[in-house]
Amino acid sequence: MTTWQKSDWRSRPRVQMPDYQDRASLDAVETQLAKYPPLVFAGEARNLTAKLGQAARGEAFLLQGGDCAESFSEFSADTIRDTFKVLLQMAVVLTYGAKLPVIKVGRMAGQFAKPRSAPTETMGGVELPAYRGDIINGFEFTPEARIPDPARMLQAYTQAAASLNLLRAFSKGGFADIHRVHAWTLGFTDRDEAEKYRDMANRISDTLAFMTAAGVNGDTMNGLSTVDFFTSHEALLLEYEEALCRVDSTSGNWIAGSGHMLWIGDRTRQVDGAHVEFCRGVMNPVGLKCGPSISDDDLKVLIDKLNPKNVAGRLTLIARFGAGSVGDHLPRLIRVVREMGAQVVWTCDPMHGNTIKSASGYKTRPFDSVLREVQEFFAVHAAEGTIPGGVHVEMTGKDVTECTGGVRAVTDEDLSSRYHTACDPRLNASQALELAFLVAEELSARTGDSAAAAAV
Ligand code: PEP
Ligand code: CO
Repeated sequence: MTTWQKSDWRSRPRVQMPDYQDRASLDAVETQLAKYPPLVFAGEARNLTAKLGQAARGEAFLLQGGDCAESFSEFSADTIRDTFKVLLQMAVVLTYGAKLPVIKVGRMAGQFAKPRSAPTETMGGVELPAYRGDIINGFEFTPEARIPDPARMLQAYTQAAASLNLLRAFSKGGFADIHRVHAWTLGFTDRDEAEKYRDMANRISDTLAFMTAAGVNGDTMNGLSTVDFFTSHEALLLEYEEALCRVDSTSGNWIAGSGHMLWIGDRTRQVDGAHVEFCRGVMNPVGLKCGPSISDDDLKVLIDKLNPKNVAGRLTLIARFGAGSVGDHLPRLIRVVREMGAQVVWTCDPMHGNTIKSASGYKTRPFDSVLREVQEFFAVHAAEGTIPGGVHVEMTGKDVTECTGGVRAVTDEDLSSRYHTACDPRLNASQALELAFLVAEELSARTGDSAAAAAV
């Protein structure tokens, strides 16, 4: 029996959280949220943990992706549909490469709060508190917008609920039929620049054509016309997380009702800090960002705290070191995990260690660096004999120009044309799909399909 309480985090040091001035309004919002229905249910979280357990054993592969930060102003059915669609396209390609089920988890329906590298931002000689995501304050560069406003939590809850409702409809209502997804994938590989991917795309196409001819289609096999889709976000704003915490009546355990999977950011993983204290007590699968500054000892303590029963699928370690640095850190952390006999999913976030300032002044990520980090991640796991269990990306279904490179090369000069992110630069639809093809190559090489790897 656990003695953990959902408010225990309040007695721990907290970082990256707002200092709300209007306590009465904060109390009122927390009271209101505590009465609202949870967005996810315990059975779903258990199901996701079981699937992630398969990924820990190399029997499935995790695809986690979506916005760096969801925003109130970009909220629309089209945005959700486009991101969902690209995630499904990526999943088809990865399924083919891995010859394994792909677990689809969106950074969606709750990814609103952002840790920042500096507490303030200066523009034109004016210094204001940093923007911390739409659930906390406003993006606009005015003193009023930057004041943390608890009422934003209610809007975030409403947007998350509506997003999840649409995602559930897309997942089960026929939109996700594999044969439709396949048609979208071909649009990308028709391009001349994508020639190198065409062979794998054709083989996926042949496989689906064969299945259709054999009578295996969405009508005869339920699994092909519907998907399991899960949501995730960084558990940063703990007042919000606590207010949506519920007891699962079946097991008596606590569940964070705000999303299926939560993760702890690289800046908030202090072993005795508030965020670790909150996450250790909920039954949801938990991710832990591991950047270059994580020490072996800290990782050890964090694994013990976050997954004391060593349940496969409970803990996902999200490696984000930056291209060129994976070999300096991943092997030592793999050693810690091995020595502990810990069950974890190893996944690669090739985004957050590869952010640079472009010559044109925009925060960007070169697609080549993203790619290189993924390749280094796979190479280290191959050398160590461990399992590369997934990828974690910031992407969108829209044709934005935020990361440079890719087959439809985005240049430094292009960045200003459609730079829409409120936070970190995301892969656009084409870059996201290209990344999926490259990961599929790595996976097919790993599963011994060397002919397929050589052909693409
Ligand atoms: C993020 O995932 O958006 C993020 C801020 O990552 P990290 O904590 O790894 O820097
Ligand atoms: Co980010």
